[in-house]
This record gives sequence, C-alpha cells and structure tokens, in this order.
Amino acid sequence: MKSGSPSNRSMPNPNGDSIRIFDTTLRDGEQSPGCSMNLHEKLAIARQLEKLGVDVIEAGFPIASDGDFEAVQAIAKEIEGAIICGLARTGQKDVERAIQAVEAARHPRIHTFIATSDIHLKHKLRMSRVQVLAEVDRAVRQARSAIADVEFSAEDATRSDRDFLVEVFGVAVRAGATTLNVPDTVGYTTPGEYADLIRFLRERVEGADRVVFSVHCHDDLGLAVANSLAALQAGARQVECTVNGIGERAGNTSLEEVVMALKTRAEVFAGVDTKIVTQEIYPSSRLLSSITGVQVQPNKAIVGDNAFAHEAGIHQDGVLKAAITYEIMTPASIGRASNELVLGKHSGRHAFRDRLQELGFSVEGEEFERAFKRFKDLADAKKVIYNEDLEAIVADSVQQLDDRYRFQSLSLVCGSDGPPNARVVLEIDGQESAREASGVGPVDAIFRAIAELTATGSELIRYQVHAVTAGLDAQGEVSVTIEEAGRRVIGNGVHEDVMVASAKAYVHALNKLEWHKARRQASEPKGI
Ligand code: KIV
Ligand code: ZN
Repeated sequence: MKSGSPSNRSMPNPNGDSIRIFDTTLRDGEQSPGCSMNLHEKLAIARQLEKLGVDVIEAGFPIASDGDFEAVQAIAKEIEGAIICGLARTGQKDVERAIQAVEAARHPRIHTFIATSDIHLKHKLRMSRVQVLAEVDRAVRQARSAIADVEFSAEDATRSDRDFLVEVFGVAVRAGATTLNVPDTVGYTTPGEYADLIRFLRERVEGADRVVFSVHCHDDLGLAVANSLAALQAGARQVECTVNGIGERAGNTSLEEVVMALKTRAEVFAGVDTKIVTQEIYPSSRLLSSITGVQVQPNKAIVGDNAFAHEAGIHQDGVLKAAITYEIMTPASIGRASNELVLGKHSGRHAFRDRLQELGFSVEGEEFERAFKRFKDLADAKKVIYNEDLEAIVADSVQQLDDRYRFQSLSLVCGSDGPPNARVVLEIDGQESAREASGVGPVDAIFRAIAELTATGSELIRYQVHAVTAGLDAQGEVSVTIEEAGRRVIGNGVHEDVMVASAKAYVHALNKLEWHKARRQASEPKGI
C-alpha cells in the first residue's frame, strides 16, 4: 500500500528552528472521559495556556454543542497572546460555525479535517477518494475566504496510502492551507516510520516549502511523545499536544514531556526550541488536575508527584552531594517550588495576590474575593499554608460563577452510637433549601441529602479522597465522578474538613451536569 520512501537527504526547513506548540487540551483533551469543563473552567485554562506561552490554543469544536461554541468564542474574545483555533469537519456548516466562533480573535485559525485512510473512507465516511479530494478543496477554500490562517488535517494519516496523502495535501495547499497536520489518530505508528512519513511528505507534496508540517499523536502504544520528537527531527515544525497528556483513549502527546525533552536534550534536537515558559508547566498541570479532578499518575514524567523524588539511599546521597548526579533538570525549571511555607494567617490581600501571581494564577473580582476568604478561613484552621493549598483554593474558587447549585453549609452527627445524620443547606437558583438525611456512613448521608435537594437522576461512579499536602492538618481534596444519560463528569472539592470537601465535590459535579444539560443542542453532541 505504501510507496517507497524518499531519500534521507536533509532538506532546509523554511520554518527555521522554532517549534510551534499547538495545545489541544481544551479540544482533544476535553474529549477524555470525565475531563469536560464549563465555560469558566475553560477560560481559566486558556489564560494559563497564554501564560505558558503556547503558540496555538485549540479552544474547541464549535459545531459540537452550543457550550463548545460559546467557550471558543469567549476565549477568542479574551486571549490575545496566542492563535485561537476552532476545529471543523469539512462540512459547510461545520466550517461556518468555526469561523463564527473564532472570528473575534486577534489571531484566529480554522482547523478543518477529514479522514484519508481507506479504512475510514470505506467504513466511516462511505466516500470515494475523489469525493474526499473535493471536500478538502471546498472546506479549505471556504475557511480561507474568511480567515488567513487555515490548518488542514488528514485524519488517520498514518494508516493512509502515502500517494493519496500527497494528493490530499497538495489539494489543501493549493486551496490555501497554511499548516498541514499528519495525525496518528489511533496511536499506531512508530518513531522511525513516522519520521520517514514526514520526510516523504515534505519532499513530495507540491508547495510543501510554503507550509508548516504539524504532528498530532495519540498514546495507544505509549509512543506519542517519541513519535512527535522523531517527526520534529524529520522537519515537522508544529507539535499538537495537551497538558498532562490528557486526550482520547490513552491520551495525546504530553506537552510537558515534549517541551522538556527539547530543552534538556537541545544538542540531540539540533537547537530547535519552543517559546514555552517552562516555569509555568507545573502550575498548568496542577490547575488542569484541580479543575477536572483527574490527577496524574505519581510516576508521570515531569509533573508526577514522584518525578523529582529520590527514594533510594544511594540516590539521595548523590543528590545531596551534587544534584547533577541524578537530576537531569531542576524542579524549579518547571515551576515546581517544593512544599515551601508561603503565607500565614497575618498575610493580607496584597501578599496573597502577589503569591498567586508568582504561582501563575490571575484571579480577579468575585473569584479573588472568594479565594481570599477561603485562604483566611484556612489560615485560621491550619498552621502551615503550602503552595499546593493555594492552588487548590484557586481551583475551588474559579469553578462557581454561573452554578445552579451553591453549597452553603453542612452539619453532621456521626460516630459509633448510631447511623450518621447530615443536614445540608444549598442555594438552588438563588433560593436557600435545606435537607436532612441519614445513611450507612457520613458520606452516604451527605450525598443522600444533596441528591434529594437537587432531585438528581445521576449515578455515583467513583469517590476519591487525597491529601493536598503532608501533615494531619492537610486539606482533603475529594473528587466525585457521576454519570447521567451517558454523560460522565468529575467534580472536586477542597476543604480542611473532608466531609465538607465531599459535599462540595458532589455539588460541583452536579453543576457540571446541569451546565451540559442547559447547553445540549436538540441533537446529541457530535464527537470525532
Ligand atoms: O486524532 C485526530 O486525528 C484528531 C484530528 C481531528 C486532528 O484529533
Ligand atoms: Zn486527536
């Protein structure tokens, strides 16, 4: 099926040594189970991505739902320091909706795609190759008539016939595409094969020297980062990735891993570099985890809890003598200040705001007031306030602006002498309501009271607690996964009292469900 590879001669790269970081946390990332976010959460992530210095923010898939459209439009209006991209299939309505969503951006981009592998043509699209070529031409021209920056993706490129790919990309370039993306949609390729494909396309596609080649990998075989790096060595100059590597199935290329590999091994990658402010990597990772409730595995490269922890005595001894013995990069280089004491109960508004800014958070207005009050309450209850506490407080405060349910208070009676009893007060659509319930354990009692108050039809899928920092007085971070009508969401809550954190997490999850219900179109959301 594949024709022969081109020679290995090195081609000069018209795009120089700068690698564009295309972040798709808010689009492909948001497609991972439980990672859906509401408008305010998406805006908070977009602001952080701007600080992180990504070149492109793929803000969503505007035709998928009104919620997606609104989020892309809001991000396009607010974010000035990055290209704002909206995804569209090649259909006329898709492209039109994406144009409407991004046109207010200072730097808008349309990203249109269609599958090119025979497998997809036969079983999914039921289209001929000739029809696909016509679609590509039409969609790219439509996008180009409104927006100068147009990316075209050949979905499932790595399982597509190479000669057909050359034809498809040639049509896209003639129609005005400025970036050609070569997705490994099903995480199937290997580094050598992918690099070879990129070289082949750069040599054979007519007009290749006028466009940027982009790579987009999925991690089904655990090769997404390796494949992306190999493709960059073969001349690709844009890498599509997500914070914490979240994304469909096994996830996408992890932004932090690609960026730190390029930086740490600059000599191997012949000096290519990104504009990423690496000190913003850890704050970005933490913000995303706190907002989605999806924690990274402890041994995750760069941002996992253990990524810089030296356990073996011989390693600790080496690191104490000279960090270079076992440390190839410093925690500070990714913005990971270790558990330091940052503020106390006498710290004022000014110090609090400064410290949040140092941690990479810009929190204003009502959100700031709520965060500051939470900080003061926490400082009264807890002797030591760590950076992680502040990150948790911020995440807890940015998620509530247009929520239908607001947690007000909880009283709980429990112990060994009888069934626990919980009294929960919520504000629902602006009106206060209270309910008492008993249950098998205290969490059960709280959740029953909340379920009765909200008359939810959702099912509880998972309940998890972890301590934000070390110490008996640590805040508890609870995440609650619930599901209704096939929509799965994760809510989280943080508090020094784990029972209050549990109530908040459940209410947060219910708000997310409400947000999706309110914005769901008559038709079901269209996934990819
Ligand atoms: O994985 C994929 O092919 C995609 C495209 C829409 C770029 O996400
Ligand atoms: Zn993808």
